[in-house]
Amino acid sequence: MPAMRSKWLQILALVLLQFPASSILAEEAPAESAGIEVMSAFTSAEVEEGEAVAITDETKYLVMFLMGVPLLLLLLATVVLGVAMGVYGKPVFVAHMVCAGLSMTLATAHAVVGLVWFYPF
Ligand code: HEM
Repeated sequence: MPAMRSKWLQILALVLLQFPASSILAEEAPAESAGIEVMSAFTSAEVEEGEAVAITDETKYLVMFLMGVPLLLLLLATVVLGVAMGVYGKPVFVAHMVCAGLSMTLATAHAVVGLVWFYPF
């Protein structure tokens, strides 16, 4: 009788061990196919039009203009402060430096954007 019970216990143990294993294996398949779906989104042959290409020429001119106006104003302010400092001896060195730094930053951005969008014209 104890031998019979131990046989049933063995079967029960096998069944209990098999259930989680089979359920894990069953779950792996959809996860794998989901992974393939995700990858196909990246490797798909369809080339979608990028946002940079979608921008119209009018919008590009507008962005360049909106960068150019403050650039000219900052350059003018730098010049005025430079003259005030150099000619009239006003203590505006820091303001001259701040305006000069902002001018150079904006000028660089303006030049880079202009080259990227409009080169080779
Ligand atoms: C007609 C226009 C300008 C005048 C009369 C002028 C005048 C001056 C003067 C007198 C100084 C010397 C300040 C001192 O050492 O006490 C100076 C320094 C400086 N200016 Fe101008 N400036 C003019 C335009 C500009 C522009 C357009 C920029 C840059 C966007 C600029 C950038 C600088 C820089 C970086 C310094 C510091 C140089 C140094 O101390 O070694 N300036 N400026």
